[in-house]
Amino acid sequence: MGPITLCFVMNLSSYSSEPYLDKILSIEVRIDDLLTRMTLEEKIGQMTQIDIAAITKASGIDETGEKKKTVELDEAKFIDLIERYKVGNFVNGDAVDHDKWATYIKRLQELTLEHSRLQIPIIYGMDHIHGANNVYGATMFPQSINMAATFDPVHTENEAKSIGIECAHLGHAWIYSPVLGLGKNPFWPRFFETYGEDPHLASVLADRFVHTLQENPQTRPYKQAACAKHFLGYSDPRSGWDRTPAMIPDQQLYEFFVPAFQAAIDAGVKTVMINSAEINGIPVHASHDILTELLRSKLGFKGVAMTDWGDIERLYTWHHTAPTVKEAVFQAVTAGIDVSLTPHDPQFADLLKELVNEGRISQERIDLSVQRILRLKMELGLFDDARFPIAGEPDEKTRAKYQQKSKEATLDSIVLLKNEGILPIKPGRKILVVGEFAKTRRALCGGWTYVWFARSDKPFPKEMQTLYSALQDEFGTDSVDYATLENFDQKSQDADLILSVISSEPYAELLGNFTDQVLHGVHAEIAQKVMDSGIANVTVVIEGRPLLVTDIFDATDAFIWAGLPGYYGGGAIAQVLSGKWNPNGKLPFSYPAYPLHFSPYNRKWMETLVYHEDINPRISLADFGSGLSYSQFEYSDLELSTKQIAEDEKLVAKIRVKNTGPFVGKETIMWFLKDDFASITRPIRELAHFEKTELEVNESKVFEFVIEPRKHLTFPDKTGDVLLEKGTFTLMVGDLETSFTLN
Ligand code: BGC
Repeated sequence: MGPITLCFVMNLSSYSSEPYLDKILSIEVRIDDLLTRMTLEEKIGQMTQIDIAAITKASGIDETGEKKKTVELDEAKFIDLIERYKVGNFVNGDAVDHDKWATYIKRLQELTLEHSRLQIPIIYGMDHIHGANNVYGATMFPQSINMAATFDPVHTENEAKSIGIECAHLGHAWIYSPVLGLGKNPFWPRFFETYGEDPHLASVLADRFVHTLQENPQTRPYKQAACAKHFLGYSDPRSGWDRTPAMIPDQQLYEFFVPAFQAAIDAGVKTVMINSAEINGIPVHASHDILTELLRSKLGFKGVAMTDWGDIERLYTWHHTAPTVKEAVFQAVTAGIDVSLTPHDPQFADLLKELVNEGRISQERIDLSVQRILRLKMELGLFDDARFPIAGEPDEKTRAKYQQKSKEATLDSIVLLKNEGILPIKPGRKILVVGEFAKTRRALCGGWTYVWFARSDKPFPKEMQTLYSALQDEFGTDSVDYATLENFDQKSQDADLILSVISSEPYAELLGNFTDQVLHGVHAEIAQKVMDSGIANVTVVIEGRPLLVTDIFDATDAFIWAGLPGYYGGGAIAQVLSGKWNPNGKLPFSYPAYPLHFSPYNRKWMETLVYHEDINPRISLADFGSGLSYSQFEYSDLELSTKQIAEDEKLVAKIRVKNTGPFVGKETIMWFLKDDFASITRPIRELAHFEKTELEVNESKVFEFVIEPRKHLTFPDKTGDVLLEKGTFTLMVGDLETSFTLN
């Protein structure tokens, strides 16, 4: 390197001119330089991640039983971790405003500069899972299950952009999102964090989120890393409860659970968080097969693999695959972990050091992880221009733009599942609302909103509408009243229509492990009263996973699944009810009808058998992809460019879709495929392609799906090898179907 460059470097890196701090050099050269300077302790410190509760003044337990996550730095605690343990990663914090976040993380970086030998910046991780949900004032988006219901990746793109502009500059460089476990188990409490039950839909959204978040030019020089979580099979615990064992055959893992992660990896996702539980008897944190053979060798992941909350220690305390915590560290690091979210003490660092000194874990193994972590930090610019956060919020115009984007996503996410001519509600009708959650903000947002999950509306801004206040705005205060169980009989006498709001308190993770998903107590009693009243009624379910309401569904005149629509949810539901908005959301999962039976839409043929109408009359309450509009869409002229194709050829399928209803409306054109006869039983249909469009009244358009055999007609065997078998295939779109042959 010539003298001119050196001069330039000195100017840019005022605090030092060591090669690893020289941003003009390649990242690999910088990493090599830094690695040779680092002691074992410094390396292990990079592999250690500590929760905010260990470095802040707030002590004690919050309302949920967790250690408080208040953003009030205790410098002495932080300096101790930096000096003694060289800790390189920190995480979490309940919502505070932009400037407070910037000041806090800037101080962490300053103290790291002052108190560490090599001045390696820390990286800060945050659970921003539906917008920047831990920054006060930031735009919040609907939860992922609703984002999936929109069937529109543009909304996911806007969400990722909004996260970037709200908090990349605050030092929130590592975003623990997206959740890519498939929402296949509707009893799992983290269902709402998923993109639903279909691997194709989840893959499309995963790709869009990761690309947008990681490559957003609007946030430069600040950048963010996404974290695809929780690898792998976390979302389908056999018991339905969080962090309990899953039994998933390898073929099913490859077919259903791998694709969304593969899409994220192909999109360049920089980090992955591991499943806290076990699959087929092996805790994932201890599985070399999953963390190294599958994740890295087969799927091609090159980034940082982090543990989930305290999960190394849990190999000892929960899973009992390790007889000591030290053995647990050995198992997890050998399996392929790079970063341990400890979360509160650095015991991991001590034990890992002992293991290296005893020769049980090699220096090379440590270097491999440390290189990945340093690469992450360098790629994010943390060694350079992005080291120190800056205060500030998006300007008013930008904020307003993303608030509008979030409102649009929310509107598109509301799913109308039944309408017996009662919706939209005609003006002037007297609406009686029942259901206490209609008057809360927290029920619309669910967990991971300002805090882990709120036990009251205290953390929520006053400007946020509840469903009840939104209804009053939409229909007029005089037209909307509210009844409790006690005064229902009296108030319902004046009502033209009852709006029954079924919902629950927010929850997160293990604290959402319910014993059933039916209504109890006052909620059940009032629902019964509505059914018995004989008054026209509409049911709105606001819940992150399907509550079992089959009797209510059958009895009600209209049924809306609103999921967890978030900050703008009240207004969106009200607009669907009034008809100001024509609903177009589609269920991203199959809504179960019974407590002991669940079958996703991409079920096997055997699962479709109804043996006896009186015993098991339906397979589901509504399948994946269900959702009505106030318009009707007619599908016609399904055409194939050929009826016979070879492996390396393409087939173009076309369909005409016409809006025959009275309103402008959006429709999602979903193309499903079925391999008619195959060596491994195939789903009765699988989503292969989708496209959302808006059609004017009487407008019709032709839509295309180009079928490529190696992309659309294959399926994996139990080793993950892809099979393409000759024979006939059925193609389904709308209510039409046709078939073709692969020769
Ligand atoms: C959750 C993760 C989350 C982490 C950090 C864990 O309990 O399972 O999804 O990212 O905490 O807050």
